[in-house]
Parts: sequence; C-alpha cells; structure tokens
Amino acid sequence: MVSIKDKEFIPYISAHALKKRIEEMGNEISNDFSGNPAVLIGVLNGAFMFLSDLTRNIKIPMEVTFIKVASYIGTESSGAVKSLMGLDLDLEGKSVILVEDIVDTGLSMKFLLELVKEKKPNKIAVASLLLKPDALVHDIKIDYVGFEIPNRFVVGYGMDYDGFGRNLPALYQLK
Ligand code: IMP
Ligand code: MG
Repeated sequence: MVSIKDKEFIPYISAHALKKRIEEMGNEISNDFSGNPAVLIGVLNGAFMFLSDLTRNIKIPMEVTFIKVASYIGTESSGAVKSLMGLDLDLEGKSVILVEDIVDTGLSMKFLLELVKEKKPNKIAVASLLLKPDALVHDIKIDYVGFEIPNRFVVGYGMDYDGFGRNLPALYQLK
C-alpha cells in the first residue's frame, strides 16, 4: 500500500505486466506502420513514462514531441480542457501517433485530436496505456489500448494524484 497526501492506494498493475503489455503494443504499432515514419506526440505530464518505454519498443523511424493539456483537479475531471503548451513540429502530410497515459471521459483526447487535425497530418492514431470504457462520454476511437480498466482512480507510472505519485514504477488504485 502507498499513501499519497490524504489517500491510500493499493497495488493494481505490476511493473512487469506493464512492461510485457507495452512490448506487445510496440510490436503491433511497428507492424501496422511497417517501416513508415511517424511523429509520436506525448501528452504531458502523465504520458512521459509510457511514451519513454513505448518509443523503445517501436521499430520505425520516428520523431518525438510533446503537447501539454490539463483537465483534472484532484481526482475529478473538471469538464474543461486547457492547452498549456502547443505543438512545435510541422505535421503536414505526416503520420501522427498521439500517446496518452489514460483516456477517461475522452474530453482531453477529443480536444487533442482537433488540435492535431488543424496541422493537416495524413493519418492520426491514438495509443493510450489505459482506457476507462465506463467513463467514456465522447465518441472517439483509441487504436491501441494497453489495458481497459474499471472506473476507479489510479496513480503511478506517470499518473498523479494532486501532482504526486508519478514516479511509482507500477500502477496503484484508490483503496
Ligand atoms: P479525460 O479528459 O476525462 O479523458 O481525462 C484524461 C486525463 O485525466 C488523463 O490524460 C489523465 O491525465 C487524467 N486522468 C484520468 N483518469 C485518471 C486517473 O485515474 N488517475 C490519474 N489521472 C487520471
Ligand atoms: Mg494524460
């Protein structure tokens, strides 16, 4: 069990299980892109650890960049998304893979897809380590999902509770 601020979290998905699944996701993406280049866009802050491991498991030529948005306050989605850091790379005619830690209501991803589309890429795919299908309210397609999880708050492996817990190498869920 780990304590973060006022809450307690219990082990959920081990570092080993995450590693194995991310290897599979990397292989699947490498096969689908079959040697064609892509731009991976990591969604900060939560996706930094997943992006780091995923890139090392994808065997295609790639550029890597980041975008930063925020929608969460504590353990609740605020219902509004803000862009905190924009895209600096030219995406016109390129294949883009948006890399997220978790898709919850889908609001952030819907917003991100619209931002990326404005840059006229020829293809956009989405890879998310986690998906909470029961929380999803926006109609978006996630091409690569690591794990579908129930609608419970999780921390670790990049994901935070009120800013803390991102450095945990495994996933924990609210007790
Ligand atoms: P959405 O816009 O509701 O899909 O929320 C997406 C963002 O909220 C994710 O990229 C995460 O940063 C954050 N988030 C959603 N669920 C959780 C959770 O269980 N733990 C930590 N962060 C979460
Ligand atoms: Mg995120």
